[in-house]
Amino acid sequence: MKIPNISTLSFILLLLFISLSSRAASAADKHRDFLECLTQQFKNYSSISSNVYTPTNSSYSSVLRFSIQNLRFASDSVPKPQVIITPEHESQIPPIIYCAKENGLQIRTRSGGHDYEGLSYVSQVLFVIIDLIKFSEISVDIGEKTAWVESGATIGSLYYRIAEKSGILGFPAGVCPTIGVGGHFSGGGYGTLMRKYGLAADQVIDAKIIDVNGRILDRRSMGEDLFWAIRGGGGASFGVIVAWKVQLVDVPKRVTVFRIGRTLEQNATQLFHRWQYIASELDKDLLIGITVSKVSSTQTRKNQTINVSFYSLFLGGIDRLLPMMRESFPELGLVREDCIETSWIQSVLFHFGFPIESPKEVLLNRTQRSVTYLKGKSNYVQKPIPVHGLQGIWRQFYEAEAAAAQLIIAPYGGRMAEISESAIPFPHRAGNLYKIQHLVFWAEEDAERSHRYISWSRRLYKYLTPFVSTCPRAAYLNYRDLDLGVNNIVGNTSYAQASIWGKKYFNNNFDRLVRVKTIVDPDNFFRNEQSIPPLHST
Ligand code: FDA
Repeated sequence: MKIPNISTLSFILLLLFISLSSRAASAADKHRDFLECLTQQFKNYSSISSNVYTPTNSSYSSVLRFSIQNLRFASDSVPKPQVIITPEHESQIPPIIYCAKENGLQIRTRSGGHDYEGLSYVSQVLFVIIDLIKFSEISVDIGEKTAWVESGATIGSLYYRIAEKSGILGFPAGVCPTIGVGGHFSGGGYGTLMRKYGLAADQVIDAKIIDVNGRILDRRSMGEDLFWAIRGGGGASFGVIVAWKVQLVDVPKRVTVFRIGRTLEQNATQLFHRWQYIASELDKDLLIGITVSKVSSTQTRKNQTINVSFYSLFLGGIDRLLPMMRESFPELGLVREDCIETSWIQSVLFHFGFPIESPKEVLLNRTQRSVTYLKGKSNYVQKPIPVHGLQGIWRQFYEAEAAAAQLIIAPYGGRMAEISESAIPFPHRAGNLYKIQHLVFWAEEDAERSHRYISWSRRLYKYLTPFVSTCPRAAYLNYRDLDLGVNNIVGNTSYAQASIWGKKYFNNNFDRLVRVKTIVDPDNFFRNEQSIPPLHST
């Protein structure tokens, strides 16, 4: 290798210095020009100025951090937005879009901030966050059995507002109450009512979006293609969705819940194996899911074992559930004492791990109980995994990095299998027995440790290859995983490149999403690492 002499080195350093300082200058210019543009666009700038946060503002960090739900993306080394804006009214959003476009800044829209890869608040290019935290109105119409929900509301507050007015209506969305409606509905959204009613996105009947031209559109004015795309295709590719109208669903006055844990020494492997044959075939009123984790045990040589926990929601009383369970899953040995009969809203608290008698007001709390470092991945299973396959998963869990790892397994079938694959962009319907989500959590901000945990997650994903769906190896958009493939950060991304991750999330619906994107945002303004590319950018 030829070693450069001192004068060449000095020249290279000078170039580097010039390039870095011109980048900093260009960032400062764009930032200043963007703010200048806002003052011109808002006839009354004081109406928005208190909701505009720049890094020099004392509240900037706390506003940014408030909705960060994965500490991997909170550290100082992660790029931060030039500006954060928390609009209070939809009319304030078109000028922000206009000024970002004019000044070459990207927009990241954040509702609840639960994106596993932080895409709602991190970007490698200069960017602005539109944080919809102040869009949290919910109005429930009991007569019509519908609700209008703003995107920045949490699903916990939606459940609460429904229960406030009715004990026999519910909504089929996720388990964690702090999830934001904006990301959740636009990516699908499943929870314990999925076998009876499908996804949150399946129940969306209208929406309000602000497009790249700053137009505020509802279902009628946006047209059926765009309305189709935002129900599961990821909102961030298409605009800023400010509100959703949803159909509420009937739930009985009394439902039944249970959670039964079995360790390997208590036959957990055989129970899991058997569960695979029955869970997707059960009556639609009954959902039995599984979580898997490593627990300590004094009865084993390694002082640890695997716990397989069966959690359930049954839309009816114990007396109807017990004979059903005796017939379909007698091996679990469910008895009356394992079951709790309660209201649907208390079942929501139970499934999130609150004490079942907690006041339902805890659902209004936007603060996550614990925020850690995490990596998540998902897989779909279409044929039961043989016993030796399950034992191989347990072996992965015995590794040190899996101390706080978890599998969360959701059974399919029921309503999920009845809805056509192309009804909305979420394609994972008939033919799937269940979905596995694997999560690994850790508590330290240390690049090397993070790397070890993420590698564990990738090893498990690799191990699962022979047991899960292929062509495409399907994944759930709301469990965002950038390992599946990414767009180019700068410049265009071809259809072929984006198909690598796009087909996994959307299968054949990816092509229609590309067509919609090409029409509504041909210049690809709304973009991120996994946004739908317009066609001509190939
Ligand atoms: P966030 O604000 O991070 O947005 C996610 C994506 O949507 C980003 O790309 C963002 O730009 C875009 N976006 C957000 N709001 C938008 C808007 N108004 N207009 C346009 N684009 C918008 N999922 C599930 O189905 N069932 C479950 O039970 C759970 N449980 C769960 C628990 C925990 C602790 C986490 C961290 C996540 C889940 N999820 C889940 C996954 C969750 O559904 C997913 O992360 C959602 O996208 C989160 O939506 P937020 O609005 O909170 O995220």
